[in-house]
Amino acid sequence: MKTSPSFSAYKKSPYKSIKHTSYFNVYDHLFSKFRNKKIVFIEIGVLAGGSLFMWRNFFGSKARIIGIDMNPNAKKWEKHGFEIFIGSQSDKHFWRNLCKKIGKIDVVLDDGGHTYDQQIITTEMLLENIKDGGLLVVEQ
Ligand SMILES: C[S@@+](CC[C@H](N)C(=O)[O-])C[C@H]1O[C@@H](n2cnc3c(N)ncnc32)[C@H](O)[C@@H]1O
Repeated sequence: MKTSPSFSAYKKSPYKSIKHTSYFNVYDHLFSKFRNKKIVFIEIGVLAGGSLFMWRNFFGSKARIIGIDMNPNAKKWEKHGFEIFIGSQSDKHFWRNLCKKIGKIDVVLDDGGHTYDQQIITTEMLLENIKDGGLLVVEQ
């Protein structure tokens, strides 16, 4: 794991993030082709903000890092250059509005509420907005 780029990015984050150690190899495998490119990356679930910094470390400064959370406190991370949208991943209107605002997405990582209903709605609402060759990854 010492040589894992996503683990290094995680370790460098100045704020707390909760990631299972078994995920890092999977992140490297799935996401490496998007590094240092001008991509649109969304993570559902901001919590303590640490994963936003992790993804910026991992993908590089050209990536647009967008965080989604139902907790309005997450807005505070905007001053660090992240785009934050407040809403529930169970809310279809939220996704419709968001898709109009942000355009096509390269990668979605769902680390939000972790229920099947939330994950299914999120998938249904985002699939058409993901670019060809893009990814939607759901954490358990
Ligand atoms: C597991 S934590 C995210 C951890 C973070 N990604 C990390 O790596 O440290 C889950 C987050 O999802 C948010 N959340 C829970 N239900 C949600 C929902 N229905 N819509 C949007 N966000 C939700 C919570 O407020 C919480 O911040």
